[in-house]
Amino acid sequence: MVKSVSPYDSESAVEIGQGGMGTVVRRKHLYLDRFVAMKKIKPENMSDPEFIQRFEREAQSAGGLHHQNVVCIYDFWKTPTECTIVMEFVDGTNLRKVMASGRRIPVEMACYIALEVARGLGYAHRHKFIHRDVKPSNLLLSRDGEVKIGDFGIVKVEDATRELTQTGAQIGTTHYMAPEQIEGQKLDGRADVFALGMVFYEMLAGVHPFGDSGEAGQSVGAKILKGKYVPVRKQNPDVPWRVGRVVARCLQHKPTRRYPDMAALERALSRILWKYDLAYAPQELSRFLGECGTIKEPAPDTKTRQMTPLPPKETMPGSVLPESRSRRAWRAILITAGVLAGAGAALAIYLMVKHR
Ligand SMILES: Nc1ncnc2c1ncn2[C@@H]1O[C@H](COP(=O)(O)OP(=O)(O)OP(=O)(O)O)[C@@H](O)[C@H]1O
Ligand SMILES: [Mg+2]
Repeated sequence: MVKSVSPYDSESAVEIGQGGMGTVVRRKHLYLDRFVAMKKIKPENMSDPEFIQRFEREAQSAGGLHHQNVVCIYDFWKTPTECTIVMEFVDGTNLRKVMASGRRIPVEMACYIALEVARGLGYAHRHKFIHRDVKPSNLLLSRDGEVKIGDFGIVKVEDATRELTQTGAQIGTTHYMAPEQIEGQKLDGRADVFALGMVFYEMLAGVHPFGDSGEAGQSVGAKILKGKYVPVRKQNPDVPWRVGRVVARCLQHKPTRRYPDMAALERALSRILWKYDLAYAPQELSRFLGECGTIKEPAPDTKTRQMTPLPPKETMPGSVLPESRSRRAWRAILITAGVLAGAGAALAIYLMVKHR
């Protein structure tokens, strides 16, 4: 019998963190000379078949997804004593840690992160997967300034009849659940739109729209069901009205009033960022992560990449977002007043000269 040899170096193992399902450890693939992230189920959960099934589902569901904004699954195995998912190691941090750093995320950067997440989710939705657990700790930000969605563990395969996915069972974090998900109704991609809306709001406002991070899930869930929250621009007046409008549309209580799909949200965010040269966005994000102290240092060789065809831009921001309607109106009023004053002065000079 040939004894199997693990290609993953156990000596290089470093624990990255612990979540609800298990522990995530970084290990090195000995032959491919690259790091991977391994999620191992907690031993106390090994005897729970539903838990194992969910874990297996995480591997299966994300295993077929290949997109730059989705954490790639490399391998999965299950033995009577162990259950492990091997995935792409995202060298960086997660959005929860960035939010906890106390630094306000600049508006453009929040829009860029939301846009990248919308792209990854849009791809998953097109492949009939709803994430159902979009939350800051599941959004990974690499040192290179990439944004990747992890934990497709409780995804629902649309139209599938598998028991774990069919019921509206409340799995996931109530803090970021759409009202219909809390109520256990049938879900579609618009539940992820709502969840992303909450994350987007939190990036912009620095607070969750429906409660504190320390607040119990049940209490936040009740507030989500009521649907009342302080508009994002009241929390942070620097948020342009267009951005506030996108957030508000994501957070509509009724799914029919939200963006119908991620593509529509993507378009709305791209329109907002049309002046922002996205080729520099990963670099900017990488630098910001370094400034927040959430990564040791930004990647030295972060490449610029053109992600959408955008007109070239000579300089990097100040605020590159389109001006708000009220600012435009004020500018028009001031220009008109200036022109009228100039014309009046010219007329006065003309009359003075004429009557001399
Ligand atoms: N592929 C990965 N690459 C790098 N770090 C990862 C990866 N997947 C998860 N992590 C990190 O490991 C830690 C634990 O993640 P995990 O998903 O288990 O828990 P969580 O997201 O905090 O909670 P939950 O279990 O509710 O999802 C987090 O800090 C997360 O950022
Ligand atoms: Mg997670």
